[in-house]
Amino acid sequence: MSPRAPRSLWSLDPEVCFLNHGSFGATPKEVMAAQRGFQDQLEAEPVRFFVRELPGLVRGAAAEIAAFLGADAEGLVFVDNATTGVNAVLGSVRLPRDAVVLCLSHVYNAVAQSLHHHGVRGGWRVVHVSLPRPPLTEEGVLAAFDAALVRHRPSLVVVDHIVSAAGVVLPIEGLVARAKAAGARVLVDAAHSPGQVPLDVRALGADWVVGNLHKWLFAPKGAAVLAVAPDQRAELHPTVISHGYRQGLAAEFDFTGTRDVSAWLAAPAGLRFWRALGGEAHMAANQAQARRARRRLVEAVTGSVPACEEAMVGSMAAIVLPPRFGAPSMAQALKLHDRLFDEHGVEVPVSFLDGALWLRISAQAYVADDDIERLIHALDQIAQ
Ligand SMILES: Cc1ncc(COP(=O)(O)O)c(C=O)c1O
Repeated sequence: MSPRAPRSLWSLDPEVCFLNHGSFGATPKEVMAAQRGFQDQLEAEPVRFFVRELPGLVRGAAAEIAAFLGADAEGLVFVDNATTGVNAVLGSVRLPRDAVVLCLSHVYNAVAQSLHHHGVRGGWRVVHVSLPRPPLTEEGVLAAFDAALVRHRPSLVVVDHIVSAAGVVLPIEGLVARAKAAGARVLVDAAHSPGQVPLDVRALGADWVVGNLHKWLFAPKGAAVLAVAPDQRAELHPTVISHGYRQGLAAEFDFTGTRDVSAWLAAPAGLRFWRALGGEAHMAANQAQARRARRRLVEAVTGSVPACEEAMVGSMAAIVLPPRFGAPSMAQALKLHDRLFDEHGVEVPVSFLDGALWLRISAQAYVADDDIERLIHALDQIAQ
């Protein structure tokens, strides 16, 4: 099957079979042009831009993204990436010493590091909830989480909507509702959600939701949002304190010193591109492609295990590689990635997590089913 949109809409290297939209996204040329337009506007008159134009432009872009995500515009701010948003929350939240902070064993490494750093400073006990072995099921994830809530009584829960290495969409409504019912505050790491799966921030009822726009919503790199529940807004501060300190959420986050925020301003252009591809229909097509790819991979890579039940697949799909791909380790994951890229021109992530090697593909409008066949051929060549 051919791609649903010509690759020439992106700047992607034609020599590379690019199956990793998930890590950093890929920004279409027309969105990059919109970003350059804002950079030109800045340089035409820097003082006018920063002092008079920028505040309205940032709030206007925030309002468009907030409407898309079902969030209050006055409770949504831009940050550079999901990591920055997580750090702002963990650096601001006040918890007693010895408070328990819960995250999942599939937590993204940068988030785990941030939890460790802030946990040591605050004297928190950070507990990683082990998720069951693959294939994950919604029921299994919820049961493991329920048991951890009862056992650890956390004050704060940091939970992924879509886990990174395994690419699995978790039952986030159930996870948030359970954590809130147990009396915890909840930070949802929705780094992969905007543009990949439907997300209704208000209905979710979390205290904070952080989401990247530069992955699945086609924004330029450096565009992410942090949506904050009304009762958490006064306590939250950006990682960089500037003029707007204690003057409200927007004033604090919208200006954190002189810098290029054209990626934020061009985020609505990414949203327009996503809509032009079909919006909801585009997400559904990605999901169908990811499910097809996963069926092919499981069938072709004998002994592999799918990361999860089919209902939990969004635009990414992962398998656990069987032993003939080498003993699981971080070094082996890197080696496999490099061999796939260097010897076969296939860009696909291989991760080491929970004692296993995970290979994850990303569906996208520029991906063709033949790209999956190229990956399968490469895996055949590499297997020992
Ligand atoms: C689950 C999860 N959280 C956080 C991040 C961090 O995103 P960023 O590097 O844009 O901060 C990622 C990146 O892939 C992720 O997968």
